[in-house]
Amino acid sequence: MTQDELKALVGQAALQYVTPGTVVGVGTGSTVDKFIDALAASGLKIAGAVSSSVRSTERMKALGIAVLEAAEVPSLQVYIDGADEIDHRGHMIKGGGAALTREKIVADLAQTFVCIADESKLVSVLGRFPLPVEVIPMAAAQIARRFAAMGGDARLREGVVTDNGCQILDVRGLQITEPAAFEAEVNQWPGVVTVGVFARNKAQVCLLGTAQGVKTLKF
Ligand code: 5RP
Repeated sequence: MTQDELKALVGQAALQYVTPGTVVGVGTGSTVDKFIDALAASGLKIAGAVSSSVRSTERMKALGIAVLEAAEVPSLQVYIDGADEIDHRGHMIKGGGAALTREKIVADLAQTFVCIADESKLVSVLGRFPLPVEVIPMAAAQIARRFAAMGGDARLREGVVTDNGCQILDVRGLQITEPAAFEAEVNQWPGVVTVGVFARNKAQVCLLGTAQGVKTLKF
């Protein structure tokens, strides 16, 4: 199966976590696009979706799915999103699509984070994928120096402005063995909007697309 087919498989499988009549949290990315398409095609009647990006909002609206503001929804049963990496404890690196801040905000509203990913995303230690960090532009150089002091090489993602008007640093060369401590540390550096480690808002479930079908991991 191709990677695209594996993404479609887990996008379809995520429908089992959608309860009719509820509001669903929806992430961002090519895997989530498959979920949005499957949701629209399923005929499941949901009360609406809270979206984590302009990209997902536009796709859902085009397919007739009502999109609600996060401020209107105090909590969500489920948040469904992809990942750039996920470890065996449900910690993730996210932000390859530059939507990490809104993704973390919507994930924080949800009781259950269901990660949908193809098997190439499963790792034993986070860090092979360059870590995205959303930053306030005037702080980018200082934040890059801080990463250099921990052995990371931070580069500005050229030509990208986030939905929040900020910039993305991609940091190579890190081995994130203690994701919760790392997230807490980096998040309090001045000018960091969001670090793309999702440990506090980790996945409770991962639907992993494999050549043998969908594997369900629970954390
Ligand atoms: C976007 C994300 C995505 O979930 C992540 O990049 C995975 O994307 P894809 O499903 O396209 O591989 O964090 O900010």
